[in-house]
Amino acid sequence: MTTTDPRSGSAASDAATAGSHATESARLGRSNQRGGGSAVDQARTAKVIGAALEGIRAAIRDNKVTYDEFDAFKRWLIEVSDTGEWPLFLDVYLEFEVERVAAETQDGSTGTILGPFWLDGQAQLDSPATLPMRDDEPGTPLILAGQVRGTDGKPLAGAKVDIWHTDDEGYYSGFASKPPAGNLRGVVTANSDGRYEIHSRKPAPYTIPLDGPTGKMTETAGWSPWRPGHLHLLVSAPGHRTITTQLFFIGDRYLDSDVASATKPELILDPQPTGNGDEVRSDYDFVIESE
Ligand SMILES: [Fe+2]
Repeated sequence: MTTTDPRSGSAASDAATAGSHATESARLGRSNQRGGGSAVDQARTAKVIGAALEGIRAAIRDNKVTYDEFDAFKRWLIEVSDTGEWPLFLDVYLEFEVERVAAETQDGSTGTILGPFWLDGQAQLDSPATLPMRDDEPGTPLILAGQVRGTDGKPLAGAKVDIWHTDDEGYYSGFASKPPAGNLRGVVTANSDGRYEIHSRKPAPYTIPLDGPTGKMTETAGWSPWRPGHLHLLVSAPGHRTITTQLFFIGDRYLDSDVASATKPELILDPQPTGNGDEVRSDYDFVIESE
């Protein structure tokens, strides 16, 4: 079952479906494409967790939080856990800061957050590739093409471009019931010159699920639950650091109010008509650094 936002758009999925799938993915470590999971020592734990707790204590002190509000907070935390929304909440409200810290020591193309909707085991395709889609897949035909190079400027033959995005209604396959499994997802292998070409459909903006605690909190606070339309990408090559990024579209009404704070100026595409019906194309090269 999916949730349609009454204001004209769509949710990525319903909270229960998205939550259970994203939680299972995170539990298995598949959602962490950055090679994390390393042990944390006592001093680091005390410093980071101590700072986080002090931030919450300061919010309590400064805002004179009441017992009723503290109890509501406890119930909300339990609901986040019960619905499996921890990956969603953390990826929407905190991941962008982790990504910005990581980016301080990285060269190459600009990255941004992974989010909770990546799935392993998708179609393996050679460039030029058309992503798996329904016969009547709605939406503007989109071509994304470019070259994957190292920071030395050399093309990376056989680089992988793992891409996933919503359909024209804002739904992710694997997290909403409407699109079939694997829809608009694939891992495309670039050619011997590092060039890739992917044929798909332009994704629509979507809201985070509004029927779960993350969406309810967002709306209660009066914050926008919308994400601008975007393509998710993981770009990799042997011996190189995988880039986790997203590409957005010029003119999207939600570029400046992304609930996940993931947009960056370098990541905005300006697709141009190809002359083939209403098809549009954007070229975007990736530069990835050696490990
Ligand atoms: Fe997304």
